[in-house]
Amino acid sequence: MSRYPALPPRSREFWGLPSPADVKMDLSFSFSPFMNMQSLFHPQSRRRYLPRAHRWVHAHRRRIADPQITHRELEFPALPRELAGLRIAHLSDLHYGLYDTPHRLQRVLALTQDFEADLIAITGDFVTLSPQFIAPVSAMVGRLRARLGVFAVLGNHDFRAGAEPLTAELEAHGIGVLRNRAVWRQVAGRRLLIAGIDDRRQRPSLRRALGANLGHADFTLLLAHNPLTLPDAARAGVDLVLSGHTHGGQVRPRFARQLYHRWAPDGWRQMQATQMYISRGLGQVIVPFRWGCPPELALLTLQPAAQPPGSVA
Ligand SMILES: [Fe+2]
Repeated sequence: MSRYPALPPRSREFWGLPSPADVKMDLSFSFSPFMNMQSLFHPQSRRRYLPRAHRWVHAHRRRIADPQITHRELEFPALPRELAGLRIAHLSDLHYGLYDTPHRLQRVLALTQDFEADLIAITGDFVTLSPQFIAPVSAMVGRLRARLGVFAVLGNHDFRAGAEPLTAELEAHGIGVLRNRAVWRQVAGRRLLIAGIDDRRQRPSLRRALGANLGHADFTLLLAHNPLTLPDAARAGVDLVLSGHTHGGQVRPRFARQLYHRWAPDGWRQMQATQMYISRGLGQVIVPFRWGCPPELALLTLQPAAQPPGSVA
């Protein structure tokens, strides 16, 4: 059970579709004026209905803008007591650009900040293709703050838009871009190694990122855009890998769930002692919508395992 209260669950999995209660409210609002058309244009009526319409539109805009929030406790058998309860906010695949609005991204960032994470990890695809969105997305994401820092890796789309300018912009706004490198953080005397590698289609190097540091770390976190990194990370003995890239399929009809589970996985995975969390991401690519696969903000908490790690639900 998480110490942090989850936000109320969505009423429908199909992202953005109003709930029956909303439809009922909408219908009652829509039809009641037609009972007396004249009254709609009466100044007193306008004063009555227009605020209601504004509230309804605002409520739905908020519903559409919000990602699904996943609260998840990850259990590790050898987690030092001092690292128990460490909170990580995991964002991925923002794809800020034509399919997005500053309002939506700012809402995502506000929800992230509300979690008061110890560490914020962003696993790539800040933009889709056009370099013109690099500066605005970096400025907005650069407002995130966490006690141990905000760290990122680049995704395949980021390399198309321009890895160097994006890295420079993100670093200028205080985000540590981990391009085949790692940083240390101390938590109550325990050593946390945070590593990141370039996208799989570029020149990722786990060896360069981890160096000879792995044996000295009490816990190792690896950021890797592509989840296919898991076998290499497991061989290296990484504790936790955070990934994105798949979007969970983005358009995922119910009848094809099993298929998507194979070629566009999302959620929790484990290989040997290494655990992985794959975010469905926050943005869209190719088509400007999602279906059956809502955008995700993953809020993760590290805990010592009370039982064998394979039994984590
Ligand atoms: Fe992506």
